[in-house]
Amino acid sequence: MQEIFKLDQAATEVLAEKYGTPLLVMSLEQVIKNYQFLANALPGVKIHYAVKANPERRLIKALMDSGSFFDVASDGEMLELTALGIEPERMVYANPVKTTNGLKIALRTGVRKFTFDSAAEIGRMSELVPGGSVLLRIRVDNPLALVDLNTKFGAKADEAIPLLKAAKEQGLDAAGLCFHVGSQSTSAKAYVDAIKVCARLFAEAKAEGMELRILDIGGGFPIPTLQESFDVAAMTTEIREALQQYFPETEIWAEPGRFICGTAVNLITKVIGKQVRNHQQWYFLDEGLYGTFSGVIFDHWDFELETFKTGETIAATFAGPSCDSLDVMFRDKLTQPLDVGALIRVPACGAYTSASATVFNGFAKAPIMIWEELKDEVLPQK
Ligand SMILES: Cc1ncc(COP(=O)(O)O)c(C=O)c1O
Repeated sequence: MQEIFKLDQAATEVLAEKYGTPLLVMSLEQVIKNYQFLANALPGVKIHYAVKANPERRLIKALMDSGSFFDVASDGEMLELTALGIEPERMVYANPVKTTNGLKIALRTGVRKFTFDSAAEIGRMSELVPGGSVLLRIRVDNPLALVDLNTKFGAKADEAIPLLKAAKEQGLDAAGLCFHVGSQSTSAKAYVDAIKVCARLFAEAKAEGMELRILDIGGGFPIPTLQESFDVAAMTTEIREALQQYFPETEIWAEPGRFICGTAVNLITKVIGKQVRNHQQWYFLDEGLYGTFSGVIFDHWDFELETFKTGETIAATFAGPSCDSLDVMFRDKLTQPLDVGALIRVPACGAYTSASATVFNGFAKAPIMIWEELKDEVLPQK
């Protein structure tokens, strides 16, 4: 089971007292362990961290120093990574439908690798980033993913060869294929099925005189949830074996987001109000749906709320601090009874949380502090 970074109660209390709440505490050691795990489990695969999952600068720098490549989705991410000193060769602009400004910034920063899934995008890329290397994104159906990305993206397999040919004819470098099995995919099957489809398409492309040389297997690697944890080592073994069988000579990329950052962050939040409404206990927290808990909506994620209490539980509603009635994160969530001022630790909240947080109602985003820079302050000195 994947390791989860967790503050203990004493550290949670000291940090809340010293820095206030809501507070996000990130372990860069855990980030690097997660990166190394995938790099070791999928040897030879170029890991492109999907920046969208958590664009925290210190996390990106730590991955940069570890040799990671990066999946960027926008002009903003390309500019940010360029400012950090990351070379354009280490980035793939992996958004099948790119903005005009995104393509202009790619040209300016020197990013030359792209994904696409439509004829319309070929024309735009050949005009704005002529000669760029392009990977065609193939649609994959996967009922075992939490977040389905394939209703929005991906060309059907029978469209692949005509699209690759069109890209080549318009002066692009038709370099390969990519797919994304959906985020938080709980089985290797979708990867293996997609790898087989791509092997067939590589052979068809070859028969048409196109030598594809890159396969990008996307992200989707799962982290433990409230209900289950997954044997990611077994999953990656299956994926690795399929790659060895079908793509022994091909350059392979992956684009993990959640797996790298998800388990590396804790939120510390505080109960700031309570009352009984419609016969249910309500707790108001100082972090809400418009903040770190935005993952409830955008990522369909169910967060664990740890209260450091034991004993009987009650079903309660948890709401955020804004004046909006939508700002309710959980209903009928089992919890020990809490007082105003009680601290709650939320582990495994590094992916698709602060990245999609807003400042609605004037609440600043929860600051992110790095555990390895703080721990001497909170651990008893020897
Ligand atoms: C193109 C692309 N690559 C990679 C990712 C990262 O996926 P995950 O966080 O599931 O690994 C996403 C997520 O939306 C994506 O859209």
